[in-house]
Amino acid sequence: MLKEVHIDIGGGRSADYFVSMASVDKQGTYVVLDPEEFRCPYTTMYPNLRLVRWGANEKGTWELPFADSSIFEANINFIYDCVGWSGCDRRKAYDSIIKSLKRVLKPDGVIYVREPQCTIESLAERFKEHDFQVTEPFLLEKGVSETSIFMRRLSKDFLNWGYSPMLFEARLG
Ligand SMILES: C[S@@+](CC[C@H](N)C(=O)[O-])C[C@H]1O[C@@H](n2cnc3c(N)ncnc32)[C@H](O)[C@@H]1O
Repeated sequence: MLKEVHIDIGGGRSADYFVSMASVDKQGTYVVLDPEEFRCPYTTMYPNLRLVRWGANEKGTWELPFADSSIFEANINFIYDCVGWSGCDRRKAYDSIIKSLKRVLKPDGVIYVREPQCTIESLAERFKEHDFQVTEPFLLEKGVSETSIFMRRLSKDFLNWGYSPMLFEARLG
């Protein structure tokens, strides 16, 4: 049986979320995409973990390096505030990820989007504009990545500032 491919877009230098997933689910292939140089020593320990240096190009377009309808699960965790780092237009860059996800996601695939409360609703709307079906955003029960743990701490220190980490799921309509 072919292994299902999971991707983590902007998964971070330590790739921590997918290190934990690849260590538990040996049946799946876990691919982390990030433009930064990785500092993650676990690829020899987990052969189902792959690290790919990839990011938006100078025009702010993100064509994911995968075949059409090949991805079972995509994760986009806390990258919205950072996609402007490369000097590109953040909104345009994010929309181009959504368009590319439409091409690479399997018909029964799922996308998990995690962002702070203050951002999550507007991103859910953007997925809807691209004809995805989305769930209502809900609060994350536990930290999944370095940034989600940081956000949870921040949300406790700065109540009502909108830092609570949240999640919605998006599927092809
Ligand atoms: C706040 S970190 C989040 C990391 C991880 N997803 C997590 O939840 O801990 C944002 C990530 O977005 C990545 N990033 C920034 N600009 C990017 C770009 N143009 N293309 C792809 N990823 C980018 C950064 O390298 C960084 O790893």
